[in-house]
Amino acid sequence: MDAERSNTTNSSPVLWIIAAFALLILGGLLIAETAPLILPPEASAEAQQVDNLFKILLAIGGAIFLLVQGALVFSVIRFRARPGDKSDGVALHGNATLEFVWTAIPAVIVLILSIISFQVWVSTTSAKDNEMVVNVTGARFTWSFSYAVPDHENLKVNSSTLHTYVGQSLKMVMQSADVNHAFYIPAMRIKQDLLVGRTTEIRFTPTLAGDYPVFCAELCGSGHGSMRARIVVHPDEATYLSWFDDEVNVLLNPPADPVVRGQQILSSGQYPCAGCHTLTELGWTGVTGPNQNGLADRVVKTRVAATGLTPEEYLLHSLYHPSEYLVPGFGNLMPQFQANDPNAPSYMPVEDMEAIVAYLCTLEASGENVCNLDNLQSLASQLK
Ligand code: CUA
Repeated sequence: MDAERSNTTNSSPVLWIIAAFALLILGGLLIAETAPLILPPEASAEAQQVDNLFKILLAIGGAIFLLVQGALVFSVIRFRARPGDKSDGVALHGNATLEFVWTAIPAVIVLILSIISFQVWVSTTSAKDNEMVVNVTGARFTWSFSYAVPDHENLKVNSSTLHTYVGQSLKMVMQSADVNHAFYIPAMRIKQDLLVGRTTEIRFTPTLAGDYPVFCAELCGSGHGSMRARIVVHPDEATYLSWFDDEVNVLLNPPADPVVRGQQILSSGQYPCAGCHTLTELGWTGVTGPNQNGLADRVVKTRVAATGLTPEEYLLHSLYHPSEYLVPGFGNLMPQFQANDPNAPSYMPVEDMEAIVAYLCTLEASGENVCNLDNLQSLASQLK
């Protein structure tokens, strides 16, 4: 048996080692090329850089995985106890050369990886030419995107969907209205936390037209899983501008009817209502807060008697001071909207609030308005 063993080890071990390393390299490359196939499309310039770095990590990690598991399987078979062999294994007391080698090689690999990673980080986060700035507000449990309007300093286009176009570099300037969130677009390979009391930024340049999901990647409460939005990457600037100009038009020519205006404001996604409330008419499906279907009916039937307020008084007060009018069974999670501080993340000007209340007053079976709109207007003007 000894003769047989020495025969196999003597049959050109160098060739065996070269063959084994060739297999490891091939295996690592195979893993690096196939594993990323399950990822979403690479829809940004940053995605290609991040994926290339990821492939390098996968190739090295895959080869090391095959080396360790291969050595384990080889040893189990090659050095197993033969029948009748009751002897102890050989006593080993370390091998300084081997330990030096297996410390030095990973150290070099980690050093190279950190240099490449740093280059990718600098390249993806550095300022680009002609960036479009989009302000992002994360609030339990929705995203809101806000665009400046050229030549109209006080005008902002607000949307619950992020719009942009191929080749336009974006700078997202992000604030949270309540707790920490994380802005995450898998197709763009970007993720950045939103931190309470701080402004954070992330940049990317879309390269592939399409419609991709946006997620929250930081556990922020019971509705975290539904804190989603979409990013629409238009194929060119003209298509993007046709969306943007329509939005600006609506802002410049607001409907005279406060009910229509209120509905428009709510469906724009400017305020984070959809993440928590259900309102079938606007496509809201949140369940963290009270259902808004038939709200006006319930206000008239139960809240007016309970609070001694008129429906418009009740709605106006409860929207600005939600904690004082908690509906039984629901927590104190609604943002405290600020009427007079334009810089607060939860700023809601009185005009918007008035229009929203006017619309909410129509949420009853017959669609009639249960509020006195003149009284609503005078209540609102007192808040200014
Ligand atoms: Cu916001 Cu999770």
